[in-house]
Amino acid sequence: MHIFKEIEPLKVFLKQKKAVQQTIGLVPTMGALHAGHLSLITASKSQNHVTVCSLYVNPTQFNNASDLEKYPRTLPQDIALLEKAGCEVLFSPADHEMYGQPGQLKFDFGQLDKILEGQFRPGHFSGVALVVSKLFHIVQPDNAYFGKKDFQQLRIVSLLAEELKFGIRLHGVATLREPDGLAMSSRNARLNAADRQKATIFFSSLRMAKEALKANIALTEVRKRVHQAFESAPGTRLEYFEAADHENLTLFENVKEPSRTVLLIAGFVGAVRLIDNMMID
Ligand code: PAF
Repeated sequence: MHIFKEIEPLKVFLKQKKAVQQTIGLVPTMGALHAGHLSLITASKSQNHVTVCSLYVNPTQFNNASDLEKYPRTLPQDIALLEKAGCEVLFSPADHEMYGQPGQLKFDFGQLDKILEGQFRPGHFSGVALVVSKLFHIVQPDNAYFGKKDFQQLRIVSLLAEELKFGIRLHGVATLREPDGLAMSSRNARLNAADRQKATIFFSSLRMAKEALKANIALTEVRKRVHQAFESAPGTRLEYFEAADHENLTLFENVKEPSRTVLLIAGFVGAVRLIDNMMID
């Protein structure tokens, strides 16, 4: 695997590949890689000649200094996993390579970045859009791969790519789950054994809500049940549970078209913040 820490040598390398009509797939990550990330690498490898994985813990998307500090960093293991997965290129820049003056440029996606994650993590999506724009400009990939676990992020990045005419095909890849249903996430590594058990509440709540809504139980009642589930599970805290249109993320007061509806949830287990989502159908 070719490892680049600087932008210019990476660009020179990719220019040579593009000159001989090789296609480039980009998998942006913040490291602490798990099977979910590797499924993005596999998807990219199946559709491109060269897969570039970027690994950068982007400071501008953290609205909480301690969350940034505690974000797991496991570079040697990540390199070993990427090599095993057959990833051709790793781009792992330092902060000074990515940012001159962090946070000077802001993005505003209207209502889309004010709801759900945007409500609880102000500025988060501006930071995501900023770093993803930089990565798109640096790599200029044909295809880019994002996990559906970050459902709202995928919508934001789609809007970004469309509005700024990046000409990149975006691919949303299905969430991978542990055998007990917990969505794979780099943040799971921060859960102690007891909290790891409790973290299944996100999946069980989504599944319960989905079944209830399919049985025509009203969303207000389902919302109440999800809140009650968290209230009766010590050490957990619900931030939001919402039902929304899966394309534009308009929030619903009641579910009229289950096949267009995605359920989204976020909250804490101990000090670790987790998110998850599930389509009703
Ligand atoms: O999903 C992530 O890991 C990050 O938000 C991303 C897309 C790599 C941008 O930093």
